[in-house]
Amino acid sequence: MTDYDDLFTETAPDDSLFTAKGVLDPLADPEEVRARESQERELATHLNGIHDEYLPPTVSIHGPPGTGKTITTRRVCREFAARTESIAVEYVNLKECRTLFSAANEIYYELSGEKKGAYAGLDGVFEGIWNALEEYPEWTVLLLDEIDHIQQDTNYDPSDFFYRLLRGEGKLARGINLSVWLLSNELLEVDLRLDSRVESTMSDETVFFPPYGEEELVAILEPRVERAFRDGAVPEDAFEYGIREAARRWGDARKALTLFRQAGETASERGLDEVTKDCLEVNLETTDRDTTMETLLDLPFNHFLVLTGITGWKRGGEIRQPVTTAKVHEFLHQDEYPEEFSLSERTIRTLLTDLETMGLIETWIESKGREGRQKQIETTFEPQWVQDAMTDYATESTYLKAIVANEE
Ligand SMILES: Nc1ncnc2c1ncn2[C@@H]1O[C@H](COP(=O)(O)OP(=O)(O)OP(=O)(O)O)[C@@H](O)[C@H]1O
Ligand SMILES: [Mg+2]
Repeated sequence: MTDYDDLFTETAPDDSLFTAKGVLDPLADPEEVRARESQERELATHLNGIHDEYLPPTVSIHGPPGTGKTITTRRVCREFAARTESIAVEYVNLKECRTLFSAANEIYYELSGEKKGAYAGLDGVFEGIWNALEEYPEWTVLLLDEIDHIQQDTNYDPSDFFYRLLRGEGKLARGINLSVWLLSNELLEVDLRLDSRVESTMSDETVFFPPYGEEELVAILEPRVERAFRDGAVPEDAFEYGIREAARRWGDARKALTLFRQAGETASERGLDEVTKDCLEVNLETTDRDTTMETLLDLPFNHFLVLTGITGWKRGGEIRQPVTTAKVHEFLHQDEYPEEFSLSERTIRTLLTDLETMGLIETWIESKGREGRQKQIETTFEPQWVQDAMTDYATESTYLKAIVANEE
């Protein structure tokens, strides 16, 4: 029989190094936005446009993960709206929206508290959006976060969606002043391949959030590490080491916060009274793997498929890289594979460019004697992680169950 007194005493975190671990949760709202003064200034300048009777139709807010796009933009908009009656700001995260219809419905829901049935169609939902906005203040800023998760679906393509949002008849007829701010990792036109009629209605306003350097990560993490840990639990040199590595590897505040939390847990598990360099070091790899896995599981099917082709060639049980585009093509055209896997070389090349922009692969050109110059492709992370992600990926998209790595 379990002695619960013993159990609870043993598992009580009395020798924990933390005083308030939750402060290191990237989802916890920080007290202040730090080290983003120039971006805050740009955003505020756009908002202040209302005093000249102008808001840009679109603002693209882009940059790599964990660089403060969401937190900074929401905070600046919220503070501005709290001081200005004639403007309303609404925030919608589109990450979970699988179709363009559901994305539009999510916006409608944010504005009205209601959803439309499928029979309403995209036009019906937009009609609802314009009706709702008619009741709004003179100016509305709509923050659409994680917009790069929007994809072509069987009924509409992203251009249809944006055309309605930016040029919709209902909006023009009612004289609604709507500014749509698009938050994403990539510049949107590139990402969604919008057609020219939509591109011409988008303004060129962009606000870029670059990866954080050491100084910025110190500004963001110092107050939180101080609050999260007991006094003296993170010595200066360990803190500096963690910051340096986080800046060099990622430039991502979310990962940096996670790194210090995990290092603190490691130190507690080892019964140490402070976080050492070694505690940080063992977690660098784990943090890398966890976040890469998340990215992989979020990839569209074809992108993931190409990665399986890049990491599918083995020799002596070891994954062999680099590979060429032809090798990826060959891998995806195996006889036993279903039709959907047979991407053309041209499609593969486009997907490779995407994967490179996302920082998932590296490519370079090598001269190979008679074969001429060939593009070499390699993952920027441990290739085995693609294989590891496959089962989880396959539970969401049933196609993948068939894939097995090829022996060369
Ligand atoms: N400048 C900052 N000041 C304070 N905290 C920050 C700052 N930047 C990032 N953070 C912390 O990191 C977390 C992640 O930042 P945020 O969600 O804004 O990144 P993002 O650029 O939107 O990333 P993604 O591209 O993945 O959506 C925030 O919730 C916050 O805790
Ligand atoms: Mg974000």
